[in-house]
Amino acid sequence: MISTATKQRYGDRMHDFAIDRLANPEDFYAELLGAADALTRDEPDAIANMANLAALVWQLVPDLNWAGFYRRIADELVLGPFCGKPACIRIPLGLGVCGAAAATGETQRVPDVHAFPGHIACDAASRSELVVPVFNASRVIAVLDLDSPIAARFSAADQTGFEQLAALIAPRISRPEQA
Ligand code: SME
Repeated sequence: MISTATKQRYGDRMHDFAIDRLANPEDFYAELLGAADALTRDEPDAIANMANLAALVWQLVPDLNWAGFYRRIADELVLGPFCGKPACIRIPLGLGVCGAAAATGETQRVPDVHAFPGHIACDAASRSELVVPVFNASRVIAVLDLDSPIAARFSAADQTGFEQLAALIAPRISRPEQA
């Protein structure tokens, strides 16, 4: 028999988030950050948190064909939890859109991936991309990568919203050795 304490810890944890996709960007990202906060605030496991965050973004942000994380391990980015088609596993720092974000520490908002030197095509459907670095102190520990089949899908407001999300989740997706 499952105890009440166990049920409180493990049961009744259905996460059914809904966001008004037509809301203005500030409201949309306030709700997305609220949902991300609720999903991750009590969980110390970085992989579990990245997995749920990828699923949350995939579910709630329209017009994506890939959403997920690459983790910085030494001089590479290594594939982390994501939603979408299987993707390239290791990306050297500085290569492609993800590698550029990790190497520079700057968000890469790319309206046309075909015009980005060194873009790595994991899915031929991708037309535009947003890659946001995630920091622990001033070190990039991961990137959040979003791909869209629509050219110029990501606005400045999307960039701001995802940079806020990255700041919120940074301590919750750090591996113990990165903390
Ligand atoms: N397009 C990325 C590679 C990762 S996939 O999009 C999932 C890049 O150029 O770094």
